[in-house]
Amino acid sequence: MKRLLHPLSPAPGMASSENYSDPSFSATVIAWQKQHGRHALPWQNTRDAYLIWLSEIMLQQTQVTAVLGYYARFLERFPTLRDLAAAPVEDVMAQWSGLGYYTRARNLHKCAQRVVAEYDGVFPSDPLLLAELPGIGRSTAAAISAFSSGTRAAIMDGNVKRVFARTFGIDAYPGEKKVEEAMWRRAEALLPETGIEAYTQGLMDFGATLCTRSSPDCGRCPLQPRCVAYATNRVKDLPVRKPKKTSPEKHAVMLVVIDNGQVLLEQRPATGIWGGLLSLPELDGHVLRDGSALPSVDDEQLARAILPFGEIESRTTLLPIVHVFTHYKLHIIPCRITLARRLSLAGEATHVWYDGSKIADAPLPAPIKKLLLELFGDAQAAQRSMF
Ligand code: ADE
Ligand code: SF4
Repeated sequence: MKRLLHPLSPAPGMASSENYSDPSFSATVIAWQKQHGRHALPWQNTRDAYLIWLSEIMLQQTQVTAVLGYYARFLERFPTLRDLAAAPVEDVMAQWSGLGYYTRARNLHKCAQRVVAEYDGVFPSDPLLLAELPGIGRSTAAAISAFSSGTRAAIMDGNVKRVFARTFGIDAYPGEKKVEEAMWRRAEALLPETGIEAYTQGLMDFGATLCTRSSPDCGRCPLQPRCVAYATNRVKDLPVRKPKKTSPEKHAVMLVVIDNGQVLLEQRPATGIWGGLLSLPELDGHVLRDGSALPSVDDEQLARAILPFGEIESRTTLLPIVHVFTHYKLHIIPCRITLARRLSLAGEATHVWYDGSKIADAPLPAPIKKLLLELFGDAQAAQRSMF
């Protein structure tokens, strides 16, 4: 039989271990907010949704201290939602100028016009309806409805994520969808039955003034007795930072054709990596993305590549060189070739025979220059070679 679920009970199929409710958490936050939180910000002590909405939009990506002046001037110019909706967008942009993230200002204006048109100038109190309006996401909708009508709804911003990650020892990157979804479920399960305003403001103030990113004041923290990060000495490691993307690995076989004290070099295309520099000719089709297997160099392909320049006498694969670019790691596999016979370079505009003695001053990529200097320096050359 299908049964009705309490909106805050675990969804079907959810791990039964996921019981996030704990009334002592919100009680602690509310008590702390009453004693140590902020109570005199210009958007507090009102239930006027216009005043609250404006503050929440300004505070989305901007700190309180930077917002204060803009907030006061904005309200002087647009005292009511209808004034804002009726104003030309240029005037709104002018008032916003300097606050940054200007999409917020355009959405603010659009939102004002929609609330006038669709709700007769009165913001809806339902956070789901608020979240449909331009510039109002799930968290901002929750904050507006909590502050303007006492609706129990959960906020989730960077500060809340940090406090949760530390207090509950959440050992995963909060930017990851699953982790963030679990944080939302936790946030909903932790909502107090009463006092949503103090709780919501308390979470914001707690993250902004006490459990800060780089210097949390654990000594004065009322959550310290239950803080997992504190107990396990991981305050500095939580929240988990964005994992660095592992850079892809590529392989390139580069031909080191040395003949008569000279090396065959190729002019690289003007754009792309090592743009416009000279470099070693590369064997086509050997730039591989996967780092699994080293490509073996096939004799026939090699002979074809060398054909315009001469006839191969011998070849040796040298030890690979690893070069790290911003976006990938390149394994250079140098293939050293000696020629039985050198052909003239007539008509080969992109290739040049370069004197080994001039390598130090040649326009070469650093790892290639290093390799060639070693080869012409000879002593280390033998060390590098493998057969
Ligand atoms: N950041 C977002 N909303 C806020 C609020 N109401 N007070 C202080 N900082 C905030
Ligand atoms: Fe944050 Fe420290 Fe408090 Fe833990 S004990 S919640 S890390 S301030």
